[in-house]
Amino acid sequence: MNSAQLQTIKFWFTNYTKSFAIERKLNPVLQLKVDHCQRVADNSRQLAEDMGWNATEANRAEALGWLHDVGRFSQFTEFGTFMDSAAINHGERGWEIVRESGILPTLAPEERAVLLDGIRYHNAKNEPDHLAEVSRPFLKLIRDADKLDIYRIVLDSIEADGFQELPNMLPQIVLQGPVSPDVLCQILKHRSCSTEAVRSLADFLMMQLCWIYDLNYPVSFQLVSERNIIGRFEQLLPENQAVGQFVQDAREYMNKNALKTCGKDIAGPAA
Ligand SMILES: [Fe+2]
Repeated sequence: MNSAQLQTIKFWFTNYTKSFAIERKLNPVLQLKVDHCQRVADNSRQLAEDMGWNATEANRAEALGWLHDVGRFSQFTEFGTFMDSAAINHGERGWEIVRESGILPTLAPEERAVLLDGIRYHNAKNEPDHLAEVSRPFLKLIRDADKLDIYRIVLDSIEADGFQELPNMLPQIVLQGPVSPDVLCQILKHRSCSTEAVRSLADFLMMQLCWIYDLNYPVSFQLVSERNIIGRFEQLLPENQAVGQFVQDAREYMNKNALKTCGKDIAGPAA
């Protein structure tokens, strides 16, 4: 992907998202998503460049960052929530929107696959086995870049105002309350928990901390470390022996993975 093609994609994204404005103003939660896409695009480029991917690949990575959440805009407009299980799968919705957008015909077939697979599966519980090989490194990258920015949004929002916006985005969550026994049990057993089980902000933070175990690239673990993400989570979680142990395990896992170099299975397309 050359820079002119990347610019065309950014231009399309800007116009598409503006179409959801009312009297030239986006709903604040949709504006948050626009800002998120921009930062995910920045994270994606940074990760690609840190791994030594070439200019074409870094442009593809950035384009995927801009496009990965386009499904969020019609999802929220139609259903009033960002919770996929209560609405539609926003990865699938984004995939449909971009397929019909008119931005793909100018791109090479493998570039189309990278963008469409990346959008479609960026939020999948697991990466699908049947994925085109050209898509896999980019899917891993967008999943990391996305999580890195969600960490930033959540931590900044809690530190600023206790995350007052959260119940607008996920109406089943209350800001007060301990970690639910069900959430703790799921997390200690599987290092993950279902979004449906999340009831409180503390549950939400625990679920997010589990994402550490889903990161792919050593450079992503390095950014988690540099940004003190686990330390900031620790400050916000309730004091409790099981929670404390979970935080410590997550920190050890991060440190171990930040020291690795890219293995062949997860190395970028240029490696
Ligand atoms: Fe998403």
